[in-house]
Amino acid sequence: MLSIQEYQDYFLSHLKTYAVAQEPKHLYEPAEYILNLGGKRLRPVLTLMTTDIFNGHYKEALQAAMCVEVFHNFTLVHDDIMDAAPLRRGQETVHEKWDVNTGILSGDAMLIIAYRFLENYSAETFKSLFSIFNKTALEVCEGQQYDVDFETRNDVTIPEYLKMIEYKTAVLVGCAMKMGAIIAGASVNDQVRIYEFGKNLGIAFQLQDDYLDAFGDPETFGKQVGGDIIENKKTFLYLKALEYSKGSDRENLKTLFSSNPEDPSEKIKTVKQLFKTSGAAEETKKAIEDYSKKAYAVLNDLDISDAHKSVLKDFGDKLMNRTV
Ligand code: IPE
Ligand code: IPE
Ligand code: MG
Ligand code: MG
Ligand code: MG
Repeated sequence: MLSIQEYQDYFLSHLKTYAVAQEPKHLYEPAEYILNLGGKRLRPVLTLMTTDIFNGHYKEALQAAMCVEVFHNFTLVHDDIMDAAPLRRGQETVHEKWDVNTGILSGDAMLIIAYRFLENYSAETFKSLFSIFNKTALEVCEGQQYDVDFETRNDVTIPEYLKMIEYKTAVLVGCAMKMGAIIAGASVNDQVRIYEFGKNLGIAFQLQDDYLDAFGDPETFGKQVGGDIIENKKTFLYLKALEYSKGSDRENLKTLFSSNPEDPSEKIKTVKQLFKTSGAAEETKKAIEDYSKKAYAVLNDLDISDAHKSVLKDFGDKLMNRTV
């Protein structure tokens, strides 16, 4: 096995040599821009690493890792349009740098490019990869639609929220790992378990993304801090704050989350305060812990060495201590 850093370096050295840019420029340049903007490369690293964990060879997983990362970046381009986000990885989003139409079509092209990486696998492997990838890609769309629907609903429940983040984010983390397992020829049982591990880690990851969206450091986070508050996103923070507050605080929160002020700075300040004083911020941290633990519990049933189990746990621990 390599270290996380080594998997990432291997992936990045390949990504650097991969050129999407051809004519027409306005189709391919934005794709190249977003792919080279940085990011944690969490999903492709998981794909490579999982192949090794099941005693395959990580180099065989490179094309699947590219597929997963290009797909992820495609979802970001369209997500930033949908969330009216100005910043991604500390730089202008694609639709800000170019325009919305460019973001739509470049994103479409990226989705197709993502699929093409799977052409490199033999028929049997291809079929299994294609199947989990298709299922996942459609679930991501479903999750994204729920996310948008929830912006204008005021009766969203915690189970609905959890389902939404499972679909928009966690299933792709599970899929990235399952693809690695498929390439290594892991048993179906192990494929199911590693998917569950990835999915629970992915839920913890999105809970933390929501936390950082409100409380992250603008210097390191790379996205507009408070973006979810501006967009009235019904996050765990918001739903718990609503559950825990009473009287005027509760009314205030509800009113703020149906408003779209020109200058959102006061709204963000008040909401963050309410997230803290209500106990919602602490509760979110606890939920992040709980879902990480749920992921780690799945490891016990996996047919892999203890050393490989601790690699996965270390990965989770590192991820949950991120500020980016
Ligand atoms: C951002 O994903 C979208 C979410 C699912 C929260 P990442 O936080 O993995 O983004 P990058 O690729 O590291 O920029
Ligand atoms: C993103 O959720 C999920 C997908 C891109 C599919 P967010 O909207 O929370 O992601 P960020 O915060 O913009 O990265
Ligand atoms: Mg977003
Ligand atoms: Mg979004
Ligand atoms: Mg977010």
